[in-house]
Amino acid sequence: MAKIAIYDSGVGGLSIYHEMKTALPFVECVFVSDNQAYPYGVKSEDQLLTRVMRVAESICDSYEPDILILACNTASTVCLPTLRERLSVPVVGVVPAIKPASELTETHVIGLLATPATVGRAYTDKLISDFAENCVVVKVGSKQLVDIAEGKLRGHTVCLNELRAVLLPFIKEQELDTLVLACTHFPLLQKEIKRVFSKANKAIALVDSGHAIAKRVTDLLENQLNIDLNEKFKSASQKSLNIASFTKKIESDAFVAHLKNIGFGRIERLNLIDLSPRQIVTP
Ligand code: DGL
Repeated sequence: MAKIAIYDSGVGGLSIYHEMKTALPFVECVFVSDNQAYPYGVKSEDQLLTRVMRVAESICDSYEPDILILACNTASTVCLPTLRERLSVPVVGVVPAIKPASELTETHVIGLLATPATVGRAYTDKLISDFAENCVVVKVGSKQLVDIAEGKLRGHTVCLNELRAVLLPFIKEQELDTLVLACTHFPLLQKEIKRVFSKANKAIALVDSGHAIAKRVTDLLENQLNIDLNEKFKSASQKSLNIASFTKKIESDAFVAHLKNIGFGRIERLNLIDLSPRQIVTP
């Protein structure tokens, strides 16, 4: 049975978990949330690199996954080259879906909704100049929306007015027809985001990277790890064990209930290893 680790600062990894389970129900998933260091979206690049290296090494040490998904745009836009260089496991990153959005838009005005860090990254600017040079890109960086997604999974009601205030720059842009959800937390608010736009009478397509990630993982399993997925589908009755692993105790009973509901049979703490001097990333 293939084992996939899905790592994010917080609940965003669960939007990728959902895509993985939809595409490959039999894979064993280990969802890792670095809730001790949440949020990543306001950290400096150096802080993030050091932290992500440590957590990723700890995940490989504890769970020995076949593939590691860095299910975080904020971390992927900085850490992917270093992770790929230092880890022996294949690493799949999640980066803003600018290319698919630029192929979908009819008006050539698109929105980018991400964390403040992702919005300001050179990596993001390069994606825009490589794939959306002919588009106007309206960017909004929001930490608040990340917190709202965290709250939703802990049973808090999502306040649509609060959401509307964050989305206002997109609502105001008349021509804008496509919005990139460039933080893995945001697909968890898709229903509410759609409601805000429809209340404002604005037709808009929402685009995220989840589906493409599931496709990429499927391809790696088949072609790099030589796993016969057709055979696996035939025996899809086998139940896989999914683990949710946290760097800090989770305080919310509603969140624990949610995790159990979506298929996590084990909820535990990640054993954070100390990196050797060789492994520490110096800027
Ligand atoms: N889910 C992460 C992303 O895709 C960010 C959340 C955070 O700020 O920690 O960017």
